Amino acid sequence: MPHDVTLIATLAVGFVFAFVLGYFAHRLRLPPLVGYLLAGVMIGRLAPGVVADSAITGQLAEIGVMLLMFGVGLHFSTADLMAVRRIAVPGAVVQIALATAIGVGMTHFWGWNFGAGLVLGLSLSVASTVVLLKALEERNAVSTPNGRITIGWLIVEDLAMVLTLVLLPAFAEALGGHVPADGHGIGEGSLLANLGQTLVKVTAFVLIVLFFGPRVMPWLLRQVARTGSRELFTLCVLAVSLGIAFGSAKLFDVSYALGAFFAGVVLSESDLSHKAAANSLPLQDAFAVLFFVSVGMMFNPAILLEQPGKVLSVLGLIIVGKSLLALGIVLGLGYPLSTGLTAAAALAQVGEFSFILAGLGIAYKLMPVEGLSLILAGSILSITLSPALFALVDWIGGRLAASPRWRGAYETGRGQAYPRLLAELEASKLQLERKSAAHKTFTPEELVGQFPLFANLSAEQREVLLLHFETRRVQPGERVIRAGDKANNVYFISSGEVEVVPRGGNESIKLGPGAFFGEMALLTGAPRSADVTALDYCKFLTLSRRDFRQLLKKYPLIRDQVVAQASERGAMNVSLLEKSLAEQEPPVAGN
Ligand code: CMP
Repeated sequence: MPHDVTLIATLAVGFVFAFVLGYFAHRLRLPPLVGYLLAGVMIGRLAPGVVADSAITGQLAEIGVMLLMFGVGLHFSTADLMAVRRIAVPGAVVQIALATAIGVGMTHFWGWNFGAGLVLGLSLSVASTVVLLKALEERNAVSTPNGRITIGWLIVEDLAMVLTLVLLPAFAEALGGHVPADGHGIGEGSLLANLGQTLVKVTAFVLIVLFFGPRVMPWLLRQVARTGSRELFTLCVLAVSLGIAFGSAKLFDVSYALGAFFAGVVLSESDLSHKAAANSLPLQDAFAVLFFVSVGMMFNPAILLEQPGKVLSVLGLIIVGKSLLALGIVLGLGYPLSTGLTAAAALAQVGEFSFILAGLGIAYKLMPVEGLSLILAGSILSITLSPALFALVDWIGGRLAASPRWRGAYETGRGQAYPRLLAELEASKLQLERKSAAHKTFTPEELVGQFPLFANLSAEQREVLLLHFETRRVQPGERVIRAGDKANNVYFISSGEVEVVPRGGNESIKLGPGAFFGEMALLTGAPRSADVTALDYCKFLTLSRRDFRQLLKKYPLIRDQVVAQASERGAMNVSLLEKSLAEQEPPVAGN
């Protein structure tokens, strides 16, 4: 009997179909996501026997969500979110509330009960992070104020959904559903007790992660990065993201998604978070793709023919309802039409959270299975229509900006809301820059531009080397090295000038940017051979004795140059000393 290869089959078929259809979707100028969803639909319909293991696809989907949420956490700048809070928080909350209310009202006409309508409404009220980020990326708008506002809005939506996912089990029974025995650990008891228990666990989890995380994780990441092994670094990122997610789900009963999100938040505090994001991105992409494939597999296209009315109302709520709500809320808060139009287009789709929520709603017997098919249909159609919607708002925006009557409302809105937000965003950017400047020494390119010594290192090696440097600034006149002292650092001059006065001599030598000093004592183990004093404001990159030794051991080419320089200096000092001795006392015969 051949051994069980369901997982391999799921992965292989999933990747192949997703790739082919994603590629064609791209060629048709549709988001590749549409292709992935369709790939899932095809696998689910055409080859159900091959990869129909719902347990495995479900788990793959969960990994996809964990990595996605980890990515969201990793890009979560608390300062950015604070800057856009006045629009993002009321915007997201009001939009979720109103869209959900419309959903409940709509399903009332279909004869669904309140619980079912609530799950459907909530599912439709939240937009997909992936779709939004891809749309903004395509338009080069991720870091524009409107881009940051919509991302902030979406993060609030995501947080609200995380809370909803956590709380749904607690409310499921009260809403007329049924929580299976293996549901997310909500024991029996009254609703209030369940709610209290959930909140206490979540709070304990958040506090523990936020308290210990920033102390431990950035340190850990730095240590691992210093090994210079990309493999170990990637492994560390995965271990942290999946480890925290899994561990927290087991210990605190929070969802995997929430655990992964906080793992990302914790790592985002590290100056290596960009590297972590870059390393986890390929996996995040791959599993996110499988997530959509597995969602597509659940979709039954027959719903389009069987329930065209319901599909159209769901689509109407997503595209028309949510857009108008976003636009209305933004304008109501006094922000400009440009923001309103961006938010309207960017948030008029549904994605990952909708499916998870719907899946949970079905598991708890709150919503009929048909609900998920409707959401899936709405999602596939809204994502497909998203580029057209963007084109429409672009066209409207262009006309408004060109009209003298509307330009003000389009660009700045009413009152001080938008100017204040812009100022806060700018401050947040400056704060981030300052923070990263405090940690960061150079980019690898700048390092080589300044220090030809490192020209032979690969980009990866330079990046690792930069982790070892510390920045030190000194004032004019400050003594950096005292002759005769014990040595512990070597200095690379990034800016400014220093004066070197070798021991016992009268001559001084000036060193400027690109030069290094302090290497001689470290090489020989002897005391410092010279006084080194700053002549103006200087910035140095310093390496500890240990890191310097490792550098030389690892890169013989650098070692040879450093040793050559040191011996040249040593020889120069000997001759300087001889010269000064000769000047002090004229030669005595026989000496
Ligand atoms: P170290 O002996 O560790 O501390 C003083 C540093 O001054 C020394 O390493 C060299 O880096 C630097 N130095 C000493 N002599 C000279 C020289 N003649 N020219 C340039 N730099 C020197």
